[in-house]
Amino acid sequence: MKKKMLLLLSVLLILAVACFSSCEKKEEKKPETTEFKESGIKKIGISMPTESLERWNKDVSYLKDKFESAGYAVEVTYSGNNIDRQNDDIRKMISDGADILVVASIDGEMLSDSLSEAKSKNIPVIAYDRLIMNTDAVSYYVSFDNYEVGKLQAEYIVNALKLNDSGDKTYNMEIFAGDSNDNNAKFFYNGSMDVLKKYINSGKIKVVSGQTEFETVATAQWSTNEAMERMKNILVSYYSDGTKINACLCANDAVALGITRAIRSYYKNNNVPVITGQDADPVNVSNIIHDKQSMTVYKEFSNEAVVTYELVKSLLEDNATPESICDKLECKCSYDISTYDNGTGVIPSFLLKPEVITKDNYKEKLIDTGYYKIGDNGYVEPAQ
Ligand code: BGC
Repeated sequence: MKKKMLLLLSVLLILAVACFSSCEKKEEKKPETTEFKESGIKKIGISMPTESLERWNKDVSYLKDKFESAGYAVEVTYSGNNIDRQNDDIRKMISDGADILVVASIDGEMLSDSLSEAKSKNIPVIAYDRLIMNTDAVSYYVSFDNYEVGKLQAEYIVNALKLNDSGDKTYNMEIFAGDSNDNNAKFFYNGSMDVLKKYINSGKIKVVSGQTEFETVATAQWSTNEAMERMKNILVSYYSDGTKINACLCANDAVALGITRAIRSYYKNNNVPVITGQDADPVNVSNIIHDKQSMTVYKEFSNEAVVTYELVKSLLEDNATPESICDKLECKCSYDISTYDNGTGVIPSFLLKPEVITKDNYKEKLIDTGYYKIGDNGYVEPAQ
């Protein structure tokens, strides 16, 4: 009996690890050890926007793990969402001898100076998750299919409200996009609006505030507070006659949190609209379990780290053939050479596939895979 249990546990563990590291190389499951050490340790500079959002911490832990176990040295900076600081951090990593830079920008338009320094020293730059605009210093872009993220959120709303199947009934909705300085935000917005605009134009969906343009619905720095304040103002100004709200398109989980707080305090829990999100942050997954948020779009950050690692390795160590990286990996990854133009030309991009998380599949996707655990208080927390 005990033996059977042990066998079962081992099988489950193997399955969990297999699901969790679904973007590993097909032919080579284990991370390489210190195979490059003889040729001198190469240094990877990783510049992240802020430490205050769970996702960037996760990205760093996956990236560090991949690079360090292959024998690379890693320097990481978080710039507290401060653009000047990010430029300084990048310059510092260049002077510390970085051989390659992996940069998730705060403002995609504002890194030209520090990155031109990198270019003059032949240091390749990988735009990580967010495209960096108007500089020819960027060599590659690694991200998820950002247009698809917005599309998945909007399609969720269409299905949840049964918009194609509810006769003359109309629904009230508000829209909350991301930071207008983040190039991704526009892709998410366009992806969702391409799905929703036909319903808005036909009157099936009423955006009661009338606020639909990207610049008007953008949320500076993806701030929870900023989103909450805007939602509160909208509720007081446009919903005070008792009008109910049926859906909120929220570009990410930080924004969704602000919207959930504003709506719950305004309606005293008597109105639970469809609320979307992105990132599968622990608080938001808890909210999904407790019916306060409807869905989130999950981007398996470990896969983004694997693709970045393979790209770096190809650029630094091999006779670079980065275009074939996706072919060697098990996850759904595509090489795109037409979509992401940063103003100096199209940046070759590696795009991963995002997926929808709801109350129905969070356990299978996020708990059983070892990504999160449920804590003693019933709330979701990071597994390690
Ligand atoms: C990322 C999202 C993140 C947002 C706020 C976007 O560029 O793609 O995953 O929620 O920034 O940090």
